[in-house]
Amino acid sequence: MKVAACEFSVARSAGLRPGLFSAAIFDGCLSFILKGRELKKVPTDSKSKTQLYYQLASQLSSLLAGERDLIANAANFSALVYHSLPDLNWAGFYFAKNDGLVLGPFQGQPACMRIKIGQGVCGAGAATCDTVIVPNVHEFPGHIACDSASNSEIVVPLLKGEKLIGVLDLDSPVLSRFDREDAKGLEQLVKILLSSVTS
Ligand code: SME
Repeated sequence: MKVAACEFSVARSAGLRPGLFSAAIFDGCLSFILKGRELKKVPTDSKSKTQLYYQLASQLSSLLAGERDLIANAANFSALVYHSLPDLNWAGFYFAKNDGLVLGPFQGQPACMRIKIGQGVCGAGAATCDTVIVPNVHEFPGHIACDSASNSEIVVPLLKGEKLIGVLDLDSPVLSRFDREDAKGLEQLVKILLSSVTS
């Protein structure tokens, strides 16, 4: 790890208060450390987002190795993603149950517990079985606002063959936070989760 001098302007752009942190370059990511705890990682160039997902895939595989319970693995998945990706205010799962979606393990503010298929962004992902990227949730018809801090969102379906297991949902306070690269990276992470659990 190379320790770099802290750049206040960079820290401000990452929403951090100067003077309360130190910064370091770690594996291609600028990391901010507050009171000894890593607070936030900000990709420093376009290449590092790919690198970040590559590292996350490796960390997730190690984390889930040896456990085959969906709830346990989904819980650790959401904690890992929430604390590793920058600019998230919610990361978690809804599982398909009785023709709807039911809240699963997550990190963030308390959220709505049941969503109908086709309703909101999660319901749209479940209905289409495709990843949904929403640059501005306030412009998405039917968006369900669980946390008023959310401005953009991505939903990735969990599919075992053709069967819908549930969806992964990430929210961000930043507009247009998620792009195709996030979709690709998250779809890969979801594959790791699904292959870790008993069918
Ligand atoms: N916004 C989601 C609801 C779930 S929360 O974001 C956690 C939606 O529109 O489906």
